[in-house]
Amino acid sequence: MFTLIFLLTLHCLAADTPSDTQKQKRPLVVAHRGGSKLAPENTLEAFSNSIALGADAVELDVHLSKDGVPVVIHDPVLDKTTDGFGLVENHTLLELKKLDAGVRFKGTRGPRKQGIEIQRIPSLDEVLQRIKGKANLQLEIKVRQDGTRYPGIERKVLEALRNYTMVKDTVLLSFDFPTLRAVKELDPDLTTCALIGTRYLNTMLPRGVPAIAEELTNLRVEYVGIDERKVSSGLLEALRTRGLRVGVWTVNDEVRMRFFIQQGVDFITTDRPDLLKRLVEELTP
Ligand code: G3P
Ligand code: CA
Repeated sequence: MFTLIFLLTLHCLAADTPSDTQKQKRPLVVAHRGGSKLAPENTLEAFSNSIALGADAVELDVHLSKDGVPVVIHDPVLDKTTDGFGLVENHTLLELKKLDAGVRFKGTRGPRKQGIEIQRIPSLDEVLQRIKGKANLQLEIKVRQDGTRYPGIERKVLEALRNYTMVKDTVLLSFDFPTLRAVKELDPDLTTCALIGTRYLNTMLPRGVPAIAEELTNLRVEYVGIDERKVSSGLLEALRTRGLRVGVWTVNDEVRMRFFIQQGVDFITTDRPDLLKRLVEELTP
C-alpha cells in the first residue's frame, strides 16, 4: 500500500514539471509584406523567399487597379516602392505591370544585386498561385487614398480566394471596420482580424480597455492584430477573456520577439521571418 501511494505521488509530481505544464505556445510566423527587410515588399520574390524560410503565413496588402483588378502593394500611391507616380487606382493592370516594384528596396542584404530579376507589382491571383499549398495568407484590404473603400473590393478578393480554394487558409485583415463587416456579410466563415494601431487606441483608450474589447467583440472578428508599440498586458487579457485571438505587428527586434513569444500571442508579424523562425524554434521546442 505504502509503495502504491509513493508511486502515485511521484507520478503526480512528474506530471507537474514545468516541461509539461508550462509548454510554451508557438506563435505563427507571419512574413510582413513577404518579409520586407529581406526582399522588395509585396513582390513574388518576397513571398517565395519567406516560404523558403519556413514562414507559416505571408502578409500582403490589396488595392484595386483602374480596371478593377486586385493588386498587391502597400500604399495607395506608387511613389514609395516603385518607379511610378500617382494613385494605384488611376493605372490599369497593364500600366502597373510596366513598373519596377523593387527599385527602392534597401533591405538587410544591402542594395539590390545586379542581374536580379525585376519585380513587378503582382496581381492577387499571381500571389495566390505562388503560395497556394505552401503557406497561409494574411490578406489586408486597404482603403483608397482619401480613406474611402474601393467599390466591390471585398467581393473581388473573396472571389479570388474561392477560385484558388484558399478561403480556409486565409485571415482577412483590415484597419477599416466597415470593410470587416462587409467581408463577414459576404462570407461569415471567412476568418477576419481587426488591426488596431496608434490612431484607434489613442481615441479609444480614454474609454477604457473593456470598451475596446466590447467593440472588437461586436465586430465578430476572430483575431485582433495590435501595433506592438501599443500592446499592454491589460489589453491582451481583456481580448483573450472575450475569446479573441491576438497577434502583434511589426516586430523586428529580437528582444521584443522573445517577449511576445513568452506572452503566448497567436501570431507575430515581422519583416525578418528568418530571425523570428529561429527564435520560435529555440523557445518553443
Ligand atoms: O499586418 C498588419 C500590418 O501589415 C499593418 O500595417 O501599414 O504594414 O499595412 P501596414
Ligand atoms: Ca499590411
